[in-house]
Amino acid sequence: MTARIAVLASGRGSNLQAIMEAIAEGRLEADVVGVFSDRPEATALSKVASSRRWAASPRDFASRAAFDAALGDAIAAVTPDWVVCAGYMRILGEDLVRRFSGRMINIHPSLLPKHRGLDTHARALEAGDLEHGASVHLVVPELDAGAVIAQAAVPVQSSDTAATLAARVLEREHPLLIATLQLLTAGRVYERGATIHLDGQCLFTPLRLDSAGHLSP
Ligand code: GRF
Repeated sequence: MTARIAVLASGRGSNLQAIMEAIAEGRLEADVVGVFSDRPEATALSKVASSRRWAASPRDFASRAAFDAALGDAIAAVTPDWVVCAGYMRILGEDLVRRFSGRMINIHPSLLPKHRGLDTHARALEAGDLEHGASVHLVVPELDAGAVIAQAAVPVQSSDTAATLAARVLEREHPLLIATLQLLTAGRVYERGATIHLDGQCLFTPLRLDSAGHLSP
């Protein structure tokens, strides 16, 4: 069955682009039913037809809760199977997260639980990490704290700057997100009691992306 995917994005939208290419090439049986943004000028919005866009500026709302409620209503209106936060840079309120609990994922540019929050690449360099990468996790009210489904690692090089590291991580984010969505939309990966399962087996560590773009325990 074709999965209905809603994407939340604040900026460039390269992860959204990767999802759309995977769909177009038959690698992901899904449909992007809506793109939602807190920044009406976000490039990500331009990747879909105007009928599939929703954008509003939080400052036009009386409160954060009011913005979240409007965003949540707009997402709910497209009846998504999955809500994918792909470069959505605004913290989601607890009510909004609970509304889509269990079906909302985020791609975060670090090997969680390391470096939650912003500036992950600079922080990985400062910490002297030998390995850095990206994680796809379920969204819970606490920032970047939900169960991690899958990760892609890249080695940190001595010549790296935050920018070169970010570029190398981004290259792996795209196959990571697609491989994770393939498993989620096929029902092969799911959460039970705060633990991720693959094909009925409990996973004790996140799935890892190999060089061929496949995920395995
Ligand atoms: C990605 O690095 C993602 O992990 C982070 O924000 C960036 C968004 O990139 N949360 P894009 O908008 O998908 O190109």
